[in-house]
Amino acid sequence: TAGGFDPAEIATLVRADRVHRRVFTEPAVFHQEMAQIFGRAWVYVGHEGELPEPGDYKRARIGLEPVIMIRGRDGRIRIFFNSCRHRAASLCQEERGNLQHLLCPYHGWVYDTAGALVSVPFQEQQSSDFERGDYPLLQPPRVASRAGFWFACMDDAVEPLDDYLGAAGKYLDYFVELSPSGRIRLDTGVHKYAYPGNWKAQVENSMDGYHPALVHSSFFREVLGERLGVDATGMVDGTSPVQARAFPNGHALNDYRMVDRGAILGAKSGGLPDAQQAHRQAVIERLGETRGAEVLRANGADGYNLLVFPNLVLIGVQVRVIQPISPELTEVYAAPALLENVPEELNVARLRAHEDFYGPASFGAPDDVEMFVRQWQGLQATRNEWLLYERGMETEQSDAEGIYNQCATETSLRGIWRRYRELMLAGVAA
Ligand code: FES
Ligand code: FE
Repeated sequence: TAGGFDPAEIATLVRADRVHRRVFTEPAVFHQEMAQIFGRAWVYVGHEGELPEPGDYKRARIGLEPVIMIRGRDGRIRIFFNSCRHRAASLCQEERGNLQHLLCPYHGWVYDTAGALVSVPFQEQQSSDFERGDYPLLQPPRVASRAGFWFACMDDAVEPLDDYLGAAGKYLDYFVELSPSGRIRLDTGVHKYAYPGNWKAQVENSMDGYHPALVHSSFFREVLGERLGVDATGMVDGTSPVQARAFPNGHALNDYRMVDRGAILGAKSGGLPDAQQAHRQAVIERLGETRGAEVLRANGADGYNLLVFPNLVLIGVQVRVIQPISPELTEVYAAPALLENVPEELNVARLRAHEDFYGPASFGAPDDVEMFVRQWQGLQATRNEWLLYERGMETEQSDAEGIYNQCATETSLRGIWRRYRELMLAGVAA
């Protein structure tokens, strides 16, 4: 019991069709999440396309624990806790940069980019048995990557990353295979925002196929409707063939592949078709006709949104990381991925698409953030106890990859909550 909250209460607060407001507002729940979810699941840290050069690094967190992801002078990617072995001062303050060595500002201990402690000022004054080799930078218990996406886990006993990802893994592959070299670049900058609200608001929203045509109605009206002549009412009234999917382990997918959004993208950026043709050719040359067409269909024109539970989202060209800070403060990092070896206008179009919907003065992200703020305000009304997640409960279907439904339902959100509940209750006495 922490602060009057019994961890086993999650069993009654998270139900199949509803979730209690305290799951969002209760500080003890937040601490339980850091231990049970961010302390046990594979947590996304960064993509190697963010660190193209030896010595490139970025800061990140596993839950609330600070880490550095760095490409060593030897070219290898490693993840270290951002914490000096002497007396725990953090080593890197900048969000990202390039380093020859990691120098602790407090007493000047120096580590190399492989984490070895290489210098201690006036070492002769340490005890006679002091060995630098005993104090390398510490690494998370488990680290693994898929398609250049690096994850870490604080739990030694976690299943292998590929098993944890399951059906979601292939959508990470699609995202990078769209590049003719098989590599993406994520070093062009990051849109960052923080909002006064709970981290789960952004997780849900990333997979919420019910809200877009409503919250982003200006985009649907002005851009899709007026400029492109696309009628998107099916997105919300349930007649569109696009799907929401719940994979095992809380991963989720909004699947737009049954609609040819390639036609929409082409229409939006006049002059693109030539570049698209060249790109298409390059992808098919590398992957073959069948796999190439599958990859292009999957994300050549923004074919799906993917959540890798708990903190990674792929949407269109974007890699989004959701970082809880406290029950009522969340940071989001949204980086546009560029493709290697494609005509420049294709990457320009990717950047513009990202800015159009996710930039600070765009059609999309600011609307969503406003909803997170309003949800946080409304959650303070204690008499309104339950948040509802029952939309589409009676129409779910399943196949080998998991449970699916029409996109404007809450099927993928229920999958997220099932996994949430399972992790939060693992090892917690009833
Ligand atoms: Fe890093 Fe003392 S805390 S050198
Ligand atoms: Fe949105």
